[in-house]
Amino acid sequence: MRTQVAIIGAGPAGLLLSHLLSLQGIDSVVLEARDRAYIEKRVRAGVLEHGTMELLRETGVGARMDAEGLPHDGIYLRLDGESHHVDFAELTGRSIKVYGQQEVVKDLVARRLADGGDVRFECSEVALHEVTSDRPRISFVHNGQSETLEADWIAGCDGFHGISRSHVPGEDLQRLYPFAWLGILAHAAPSSEELIYAKHAHGFALHSMRSPTVTRNYLQVHTDEDLAEWPDERIWSELSTRLAGDDGFHLTTGEIFDKSVTPMRSFVHEPMRSGRLLLAGDAAHIVPPTGAKGMNLAIADVRVLSHALGQWAATGATEGLDAYTETALARVWRVTHFSWWMTSMLHRFDGYDPASTRFDERVQLSQLRYTVSSRAAMTTLAENYVGMPFDTGWCYS
Ligand code: APR
Ligand code: PHB
Repeated sequence: MRTQVAIIGAGPAGLLLSHLLSLQGIDSVVLEARDRAYIEKRVRAGVLEHGTMELLRETGVGARMDAEGLPHDGIYLRLDGESHHVDFAELTGRSIKVYGQQEVVKDLVARRLADGGDVRFECSEVALHEVTSDRPRISFVHNGQSETLEADWIAGCDGFHGISRSHVPGEDLQRLYPFAWLGILAHAAPSSEELIYAKHAHGFALHSMRSPTVTRNYLQVHTDEDLAEWPDERIWSELSTRLAGDDGFHLTTGEIFDKSVTPMRSFVHEPMRSGRLLLAGDAAHIVPPTGAKGMNLAIADVRVLSHALGQWAATGATEGLDAYTETALARVWRVTHFSWWMTSMLHRFDGYDPASTRFDERVQLSQLRYTVSSRAAMTTLAENYVGMPFDTGWCYS
C-alpha cells in the first residue's frame, strides 16, 4: 500500500492535516490506534482561537462550530474575589469560541469520510521504518491483517504518548509544575457569561462551559490527588469558595457526569523533523491548559505543515519542509511562554523555603495587579489568548 503522506493519529492534528492535504489534491492515509467512538467522546480542551475558527471556516469544516459554539469576547480574572474583565474584542478586535475538542474531531472525521478519505481506526503494532531514507514505511496490524504503508512523508500526529517522537533525535525541554487540575463536567447552566480564571489562597479555579446546560470547572489540586477524596459536595463547595466574586456571583450546581485529574507540564521536543518524518501537535509539545492553547497549537502546526507539503507536491521544492521546525517552533515557544506565564501568575506555589515562597507570592501578586490595571499588560494577555495572527490566510496561492 502506498500514499503521499502517511499520518499517525486521528486527533485534531492528524485529522485536520489529512483534510488540508485533500483540499490541495494530496493523498493521505490516517492510522489511529483507538476506535471512532472513543476519539469522538474523549473529553479534552474547549477553546478555539480566532485564527483556528477562521481556518476551520475557510476550509469548510466550521458550520457546526458556528451554529453550536459559544462566542466569547473576553474573560474574567478574579484576584481573591476581586473581579476584572479582560475585553478581548475591545483590546484586539478579535474573540474566541468555546467548542469542545471532541466536537472538532467529530466534524473532521465526518468530513474526511464524506470526502472518501482513508482513516483507519483500531490499528495496532504501528511501527516506523527507515524514516531518514527516501522510502519511509509504516507497518501495522488492521482487522487482524499485517500491513505495510509506504509514503513520501510521514506525519507523526500521535500525541504525547505516541511512538513518533522517539524517531526524531534531539532535545526534550520540559518544566513540571507541582500541581494538577481536577476537572469536572456537570449538567448545570453556566454561572457567568464569560470564563472565570480565579486566583485564590486555596489555589486556582476555572469556571468554563460547553453549552447553555453544561459547565466545565477546574480546581488546582496536588499532583498525587486521589479522586476518592473529592465527593461532589466537596468539589462544589471548593469551587464556590475559590470562584466567589464581588459581582454577586452565584455558582449553579448540578449532576457531575465526568471527573478527572490532569497533571500539568510544559514540554517541547526540538527539532520537529527527522528525514521524512515530521511531528505535529502534542507529539512534539504540550502546554499546561491555563492558556487554553493545546488544540490551537496542534492546529497551527498542521497549518504550516500542510502549506509546506502543498509546495512540495506542486513543485517538488522542499524549502517549506526544510524550514518547518524553525517556522513551527517560533509559535510553539510564544505559546509555551504564554501558557507558562498564565500558569505562574494564577496558581498557588508551595515552595520548600518559606522566605522564597513569600517573596514569590508578592512578585506574583504584583504581576497580576499590573496585568489587570495596565491596558498594555491586558492587551498582551488578550492578543496571546485570542491567538497571535498568522502571516497569511489559508489560501495563499
Ligand atoms: N498509533 C496510532 N495512533 C496513535 C498511537 C499509535 N501508536 N499513539 C497515539 N495515537 C493516537 C491517539 O489515540 C490519538 O487519537 O494519536 C492521537 C493523538 O491525538 P491527540 O492526543 O488529540 O493529539 P493532537 O492531535 O496533537 O491534539 C492536541 O490534544 O491532548 C490534547 O490538549 C491537547 O488539545 C490538545 C490536543
Ligand atoms: C475548558 O473549557 O476545558 C478550558 C477552558 C479554558 C482553559 C482550559 C480549559 O484555559
